[in-house]
Amino acid sequence: MRRTVTGAALEMLGRGTPRLAGPKMGQLLPPPPLAPKTVPPPGVRSRSTSSVQGHTEMARERSKTVTSFYNQSAIDISAEKASVRLMPATLLYSGKSTDGQHILSSAKYLQKELPVRIAHRIKGFRNLPFIIGCNPTVLKVHELYIRAYHKLSDFPLIKDQELEASFSKLVQQLLDDHKDVVTLLAEGFRECRKHIQDESIVRSFLDTTLCSRLGIRMLATHHLSLHEENSDFVGIICRRLSPKKIIEKWVDFARRLCEHQYGNSPRVRINGHVAARFPFMPLPLDYILPELLKNAMRSTMESHLDTPYNVPDVIVTIANNDTDFVIRISDRGGGIPHKIIDKVMDYHFSTAEESAQDPRMSSLFNNLTNSGPQSGPMHGFGFGLPTSRAYADYLGGSLSIQSMQGIGTDVYLRLRHIDGKGESFRV
Ligand SMILES: Nc1ncnc2c1ncn2[C@@H]1O[C@H](COP(=O)(O)OP(=O)(O)OP(=O)(O)O)[C@@H](O)[C@H]1O
Ligand SMILES: [Mg+2]
Repeated sequence: MRRTVTGAALEMLGRGTPRLAGPKMGQLLPPPPLAPKTVPPPGVRSRSTSSVQGHTEMARERSKTVTSFYNQSAIDISAEKASVRLMPATLLYSGKSTDGQHILSSAKYLQKELPVRIAHRIKGFRNLPFIIGCNPTVLKVHELYIRAYHKLSDFPLIKDQELEASFSKLVQQLLDDHKDVVTLLAEGFRECRKHIQDESIVRSFLDTTLCSRLGIRMLATHHLSLHEENSDFVGIICRRLSPKKIIEKWVDFARRLCEHQYGNSPRVRINGHVAARFPFMPLPLDYILPELLKNAMRSTMESHLDTPYNVPDVIVTIANNDTDFVIRISDRGGGIPHKIIDKVMDYHFSTAEESAQDPRMSSLFNNLTNSGPQSGPMHGFGFGLPTSRAYADYLGGSLSIQSMQGIGTDVYLRLRHIDGKGESFRV
């Protein structure tokens, strides 16, 4: 089974809006290979020629390689422009007009903003050390960004709803095309990082690229969601988000993964401000919570391999106040050893391989999964913590860890309210 990293679980569930169907175990599996072309038997209606043509055209377009990484003067010009980051409150209170003008203005903003943000990312790829920039997997992502830039900047100026509709289609297509970017970057950098002495180059590129990607996906999903009628939401912002509910959703998800991998999973108790509700975007929580819960469950199970059916609970505590809210995830999985505590926030740091050396683990893996021991969906790339921390920082919050070696770990996720007392963040 191909491993995917942070947020991939979410992106496989759809566009990432939590009102879509809840997570299902099977959805973590990669999609089946494309079926071979079949000719429908006589009398069976096939898809209309135009939709087939449209599809083929789209596939052809998507498989075109970028002709040049150089001489992209339009990209250079866009990369010099400043990005316009919005406060979530602006998204929330920008109003809704019955004639759909708010959707048109949102599309016009995106049409200006997306090429600038994408050009900044392309500049980031160009500035990478040669040995990383030439890695085929990294190049593939670089190319995806160049193609997205051209598709967006070639799009005619949005003047009416018809153009807005086809622009939204393009945005959805780009979201789909880019859904594996985090996994591809994790793979690409893992292949070539041994050549890089200066760790900070890798960290700063990945932090910036992943956070910028989160921002772009939030804006794009927000725009697409404006088309949907749901009184609880304004675009991607839930007017009365219940942290407890969203935690429960991801507990359910992580427990199913955990049971699949270890045969059992810890129970999770949620306490603190369980009745809290406030306006917030579920999307970043949908990226971060599964990662933290998987880590807590994994450490709990692996520190109780001799008694897998009698494991301590994981406790999640919610604290809400005027400025921000905090979610603490406490496990009794033995804590993070002193010798690795300074490395767990590094990209690609993982103890997955060490776990696989434990004979009790390998018998578990052999019994319960078809995948190799290092490639379980519970752990693997060493991206869960660094990515979650980068996302929390990007949103004006923080992610911190307190380890009680010999007992367990407390992870604190702190995020600012979008309409709180303190200054809000910008997307
Ligand atoms: N709650 C925890 N208890 C004990 N160790 C932990 C805990 N959370 C993280 N770690 C340690 O930190 C390492 C890095 O965590 P991280 O989530 O970044 O990567 P991973 O879980 O190994 O892989 P990935 O999250 O990409 O699937 C883990 O491999 C594990 O050794
Ligand atoms: Mg992890």
